[in-house]
Formats: sequence, structure tokens, C-alpha cells
Amino acid sequence: MNAVEIEEAVSALAEQPFDGREFPFAFLEAFGNKDTTIKRLRKGESNASDISGAVLQRSNIHIATCAAGTVTDTLRALKASPKTTQARAKFVLATDGADFEAEDLNSGETVACAYADFADHFGFFLPLAGITTVRQLRESAFDIKATGRLNRLYMELLKDNPEWGTAERRPDMNHFMARLIFCFFAEDTDIFGTDELFTKTIETMSARDSSNTHEVISELFRAMNTKHAERKAAGLPRWADAFPYVNGGLFSASVEVPRFSKIARSYLLHIGSLDWKKINPDIFGSMIQAVAEDDERGALGMHYTSVPNILKVLNPLFLDDLREKLEEAGDNARKLLNLRNRMARIRVFDPACGSGNFLVIAYKEMRAIEAEINTRRDEDGRKSVIPLTNFRGIEIRDFPAEIARLALIIAEYQCDVAYRGQKEALREFLPLDAMNWITCGNALRLDWLELMDIRGTGVKYHADDLFHSPLDQAQINFENEGGETYICGNPPYRGTKNQTLEQKDDIRAVFESHTDRYAALDYVSGWFMKASIYGKHSGARSAFVSTNSICQGGQVPLLWPLIFDTGSRILFAHTSFLWKNLASHNAGVTVAIIGFGSPSETSRRIYTQNKDGSISIHEPSNINAYLVPSRDVIVYGSSKPLNGLPRMSLGNQPYEGNFLIFDHGEMSNLEETDRTNFTRNFYGSSEFIRGKPRKCLWLTDEVKDRALRIDLIKKRVESVREWRLASSRPATKAMAARPHQFCEMKIGKSHAIIVPIRSSEGREYLPVGLLDDLCVISNLAYAIYDAPLWSLSILASKIHLSWIGTVCGRMKSDYSYSNKMGWHTFPIPPLTQKNKADLTRCAEDILLAREVHFPATIADLYDPEAMPADLRAAHERNDEVLERIYIGRRFKNDTERLEKLFELYTKMTAEENEVGRKKAAKPGVRA
Ligand SMILES: C[S@@+](CC[C@H](N)C(=O)[O-])C[C@H]1O[C@@H](n2cnc3c(N)ncnc32)[C@H](O)[C@@H]1O
Repeated sequence: MNAVEIEEAVSALAEQPFDGREFPFAFLEAFGNKDTTIKRLRKGESNASDISGAVLQRSNIHIATCAAGTVTDTLRALKASPKTTQARAKFVLATDGADFEAEDLNSGETVACAYADFADHFGFFLPLAGITTVRQLRESAFDIKATGRLNRLYMELLKDNPEWGTAERRPDMNHFMARLIFCFFAEDTDIFGTDELFTKTIETMSARDSSNTHEVISELFRAMNTKHAERKAAGLPRWADAFPYVNGGLFSASVEVPRFSKIARSYLLHIGSLDWKKINPDIFGSMIQAVAEDDERGALGMHYTSVPNILKVLNPLFLDDLREKLEEAGDNARKLLNLRNRMARIRVFDPACGSGNFLVIAYKEMRAIEAEINTRRDEDGRKSVIPLTNFRGIEIRDFPAEIARLALIIAEYQCDVAYRGQKEALREFLPLDAMNWITCGNALRLDWLELMDIRGTGVKYHADDLFHSPLDQAQINFENEGGETYICGNPPYRGTKNQTLEQKDDIRAVFESHTDRYAALDYVSGWFMKASIYGKHSGARSAFVSTNSICQGGQVPLLWPLIFDTGSRILFAHTSFLWKNLASHNAGVTVAIIGFGSPSETSRRIYTQNKDGSISIHEPSNINAYLVPSRDVIVYGSSKPLNGLPRMSLGNQPYEGNFLIFDHGEMSNLEETDRTNFTRNFYGSSEFIRGKPRKCLWLTDEVKDRALRIDLIKKRVESVREWRLASSRPATKAMAARPHQFCEMKIGKSHAIIVPIRSSEGREYLPVGLLDDLCVISNLAYAIYDAPLWSLSILASKIHLSWIGTVCGRMKSDYSYSNKMGWHTFPIPPLTQKNKADLTRCAEDILLAREVHFPATIADLYDPEAMPADLRAAHERNDEVLERIYIGRRFKNDTERLEKLFELYTKMTAEENEVGRKKAAKPGVRA
């Protein structure tokens, strides 16, 4: 269950008559416990409580209902119960149906309220549902509630008005919802003068059977689009007179309203009764936009960028600097004035703005700084000099684009109330301005330079209608001649496999004049490229949340040389961290935040998240495209080793239609000697890791004739011939002439080292291994044939793993090995004979330590939770010996390892790198 669904379930429970016996079970059910769990608790099988009538769910909550007036005592008893501690309960909760008390036993926070209000505190208990981003959710309790209610209304309206759900009418439906949201906000914030004017007018003027609800609402919309003096002539009813003129922007186009069923009407009235003053425009917008998206509705906006993550972008991009300047200015009136003037000319631009959360946060943070300036200058209540229209966005979907404008308008009003007082805020709020500063369109197709004239003076034209104006056009320029521009956001990431044809074409449009190697680029790269080009002309700095894959592996040589060619450099970075949002099950996406722009800025910052969640800050002299403190070196794959290490290749390409490869047992009819002579153990990555090799026919030309005398083998070989002949690949077809063999027949004379292509991120070491000459390695693993054993020591080391994680890229978050990218390029100091002997001993020790645990598989041995101590110790010794070869001691951390590796790589490839860079990019970058 997500937070919206939980809120709905808890609210429904709070509305029911209190039943002391049932309450604990119903409460747990509302937090997503399954029927079977509840049944077991009910029967007492899993109820660990020692208090009569109470329910104790292990690792979760101890709940008791009690006699009237004894809530506080009961809560005390729950807390004191030894079972509460033994069962590691997170919460205790007591209620008598009139009062409600609970405590979070970890934080010591408490809730004490009337029973009727306990649903307002649903956020407090969200850890019960495995949702950990609780603080943010608790702060967003209203937004979650409102989203849930609007979602229900939306669905109900679509049920009654199916035509409004069609592609043509969906925008009308979305406009209607945006208007409703505005009205709910306005009626609770004095913008409409009388409290709940909108909801109450509908309740009074529309029939109970809902037959004319749509007409009443339509008349209200019409009134809000008509100046008072013109209302009589427009034939508006008297009851609409109390509504202010809001302006053509919000209500000017069609005022058609969908028809309401009785249920829809009551939903609407219920939504109106919520306290919309509490709306938080940076969160609400993101949630509500999901209501209009069929595929997103289930998640109800829980995937949006959280405020802490937005601040990770905005703070280092420019807010920290503004705050520093504020600090420096102290009470110096002139300096404070200069800072305020500077802020008046700052433009913030989010070219994938969704419902505007980055812009809203940027606006609110800047208003807070401005308010502090005003206070220090004794100018409290002064009109803001920060124009809302300096917060610009592009968004491809129409509903979020509308909501973004609404969210910014609401944010401005709320800031005015906070810093200037309600009266002033109201005085200037209406009529709304109809300027369009959020463009609805494709950011990769629009010309940003045209959209945001660098000189930025004057207004091009005003729209008549905020919603129905041609949204794909920029309608105003920034009023900020000579000002700064900051580009920010969380643009969409999509690997090539998941891009639509249109998106592939967008990427082509952005990159084709710079390179012909754009096909493998992630969709997000388009934003990086366009922001760099814009920055080249305007001096703008940018920072985006992005998939970290653009800073790993093969993406780096394709993208970053082009970015660097525009003159941009990486100025700060939050290195990879797991994406967390308000969803109960966070998607396993790993992201990074990358700030880039003109290198004239001297300071660089790398923010790294530690295991305990704290952040370390490092200030290197440069940050390279892998987000490592090092020179701007790019690692290019190489088909031959650049480092003196033995060559690594992919295992054997079979192309045999599964006739030469088989499972154990399938060839049980073969004589033992034939099995020995004609078959081999066959390993890909997973066969090796799971310790379950398959078998393959391995027929050298010498044994071929003997083997083909065996019927079983002959049939299989014949099948290979037919399969290859049927192939459309000429190379495979040609191999039909040698059907007894794989396309390649590589095998170690004495042994081979096997390197799996994929390895789970959890493993602390790459699960490499040694196979004898009776084993064949498939093309689903890499091999070094007859390699010296010290190669295995290097492959199994921590330092090699950090190189692989950085330069090879990952699939999801698993390591994805590449011989060309990761092994042939791996920087290593020259090894003396003694070094090689020491490393060989280390490799032997690792292999022996594994042997001790036979028949444990590699998967068992390298399970991070269960890795045997002796094997871990062998790896530690290996790391110690190898790292001493690099720097005479152990490295302190991965950052240090990577710094050293990039330093060595730079030396190793001083010339080749330059050539590669030129190959990647076409010369010159057009703006
Ligand atoms: C990851 S969301 C971020 C939105 C918002 N900042 C948030 O946190 O919810 C990316 C946004 O980019 C929009 N988008 C996708 N492709 C786009 C394009 N080509 N041009 C403009 N916007 C686009 C999506 O509709 C979505 O709203």
C-alpha cells in the first residue's frame, strides 16, 4: 500500500463507530497487514502481548484498547511491559474510543489527540507499513489526503463522463481539476473573501440529486472570468456575485464542466471541507499530477523528487552562495541591498519541470533570504523584488505544466502571507497575471536560447488564457538583463533500449551536429548537452539529478568530451546514491547529482553519502566525468592490454542452437570413455557462480570422425548444420560447414581464469575463479587462458572492483564487467618478480580458503552476509599486498583508490587519450 491508500484506510477506520475488540486488528489492516497475518494475531498464534486484550505484533506495535479514562495508564503499562522490549515493538498505542495516545519508542515522539482525530496522525505510524521516508510524509499529510480525495473524484467523474477520458477531452478534464484546486485553495485563504464560499455555494445552489451541479460550477467559473461591472450584462446569477474576478487567465476558455453523479457531488463537497490552507505547493503538485496519468495513478505521485533531494541540487548550485553572501553582508545595508538586487535578476530554469517542484523550492528559498535581508534593513513587509516569472520551466505534458503555474502562484501567495501579511498578500493577488512562463513542449526540440533570450528584456506578449494559450511558445522574456541563470531539474532518464522512437529522434536532433556516436546515449544526456550549450552562450550554471550511468562505462567517452568541448566542467557532484522517494517500495535506481558550468569558478565539491546516511564533503581541484577527484581523463575501451597484463577475451561463441550444449544427464547414454573424450564442462557466469556447469560436445578435428560414429552425437551435429543453414547471419551460415564445433574453440592449455560478466552489487569482491583444461568458458563470461596466477589476485582485489564499478558501468546496480573497458585499461604499477610471487601466493590462499568450504558455491562463499572469515581474511591479505605495491600502504577508501588509478591511467595513456577524444567528437560545437 502506498501512503495515499494508507491514509484513506485510516480515515475510513476513524469514521467508523469505535469497537474496542476490533480496533487493534482494523488498525493493523489499515497499515497493509495481510488477512493471514491478522488471522494469526487474532488466534493468538503470533500475538506476543502479555496484557489482557492487547495485541503485540513483533517488531512493530503493541496496541491496547481500554476502559474510559484510562488511556494514559494503559499506554504506560504497554511501555513498561517486558514483552514490548522483547518483541522489539516500534510503537505503543492505547485508546478508549474517546482519547488516543501513542509513542514512537525509538524517537520518543508521542501523539495525544481525540480518537476522532487520530487519522490526522497516520504519517506517524508509516514505519508500520515499511515506509521509511516518514518525516517528509508527515509534513505532507494534507497533500496526501487531498490527492487521495481528488483521485477518487477524478475517477468518479470519468465514470460518469467517459468522453472526458478520451485523448481529445483529457486536457479539458485536467483544466477542470486545476480550476477546482485553485478554488479550494482560494476559498480557504480569504482570496474569495468568505470562508468556503465555493463549496458552500455549490452545496446550496445545486440540487441534492446532483442534476445541475455542473451548471452551478460552470456559472461560477464564468463569474470568475467576468469583471463585476460586466456581470449583469453577461446574465450571471446573483449568487455568483460574491466571487471575485480572477482574470481571464485561469477561467477564460470553455467553462464546460463534467456532469456530476450524487457520489461525485458528495466527493466534491467533502474535498471542499478540507483545510486547503495547508497545501504545500512543492509536494502537492507532484502528487496531483499522477491523478491525470493512467499509468502513474497507482503510485499517486510517490515517485517525485523529494525536497531534500531538490535541495541537494539547488544548494550547491546557487542557494549556498546566496546564503554565504547574506552571512558576509551582516547588517551592512548597502551589501544587503546589492544582494537583493542581485536576486531580483536571478533566473531559475527547469527544462523538465513536471509540476514545478524545483522552481517552487527555489522560489521559496529565495523569498526566505530576501525576507531576512528586508528584516536586517528594517524593511519588513516590503514588496518582493523577485519576479515569479523568473522561475521558468519546460514540461512536455500539459497537466503538470498547468499545475506548475498554479503551484508557483500558490507559493507566491503563501510567501506574501508569511513575509508581508495576509492583507498585503490579498491586495495584490487578484486578478492573476496571465503571463505564461512555463512552456508546454519538448525541451529537446525547443531552442532554449530563443526561449530565454540571454539579454532577457521585455515581455513579448501576454496570453489571453493561462491554460489555452499556445503553450509551446515562450511568451515572456526574463526581466533580468545581466542577471544570472541557473538551470536545474530531474530530467527523464532512459537507456537506449527503453527509448521510444521519438525519444531516439530527440537525441539525434540534439547530438547529430556534434557526433555520430549518439545512439547509445541515455535520454537524459540531451539535457546535459543543451544546458552546456546554453551555458556556453549565457554563462549559466546547471545541475541535474541524473541516472549515474552517464558517469560510468561506455556513456562517459560518448557524452563528456562533447560537454567539455563547450567549455563546461563539473563543478560539484553528489556521487551515486540510491533513489528514495515516497513510494513504499523505492525503485532501485541509483542516481547522482551533477553540477556543471564555466570552470572559472575555482571551488569544486564532491558530496559522498556514507553508510550511516551522513554526507562527507571533499574539495578537490577537479572532478572528472566519473565524478572522481582527478584530471579530466576519459577511459576508452581497448582491444589489447595497455598495461602489460595478459589479454582477456570473451569465452566461446557457440551459435549452435543448443545442440552442442546440454544438461548433465541428457547424454547419459554415452559410454564413460566417450563422455571423457568428447565432452567438457561448460561454464558461463551463472554456471560458475552457482557451481553448476552444463556439458558440451567439444570435438576437435582430431576426434571428430571417431565421435561422429556415435549416433547420438551424429544426430546433434546434423541438427547444428541445419540450424546454422537456416540462419540469416552469413557468418553463422558459413559455420554450417563445421557443425561439430562452436564458432570459436578456445580453451586453456593448462587452465583458464573465468571472470563473470555480471556480479551482484552486494558482493565485496568479483567472483573470479580458476578452471582446468577440461572446462570450456561460454561467451557469457570472460576468460584469460593460461594466465599467470597473479592475474587472479588483481582481479579479486578491492581496487580492481572500484575501477570496474567506475569505468565499466552497471546493469541496474550490479557490476557489469568489460575486458576492453576494465581489464585492458586497468592501471597497475610495474610488477617486480617479487611482487608477482607475493600476489601468486595471495591468489593461492584465496583459492585454498574457498576449497576448505567445499561444496559451498561461489554464490554461497561471496554472500556478503555469510562470507567465511578465513576467505575474507585471504582477500584482506591480498588487498594489503596489492595496495602496498601502489602506494606503500592500504588505501583509506575508494576515493583514494580511484584518484590513484586515474593518475596512473593518465600517465599510461597520455597520448592515446587525446587521439580517442578527437575520435569521439566532431570538431566544433554549434550553439
Ligand atoms: C523525473 S520527472 C521530474 C519532474 C519533477 N521535477 C518531479 O520531481 O516530479 C521528469 C519530467 O520530465 C518531463 N519530460 C519528459 N520528457 C520531456 C521532454 N522531452 N521535454 C520536456 N519535459 C519532458 C516528464 O513529463 C516529467 O514531468
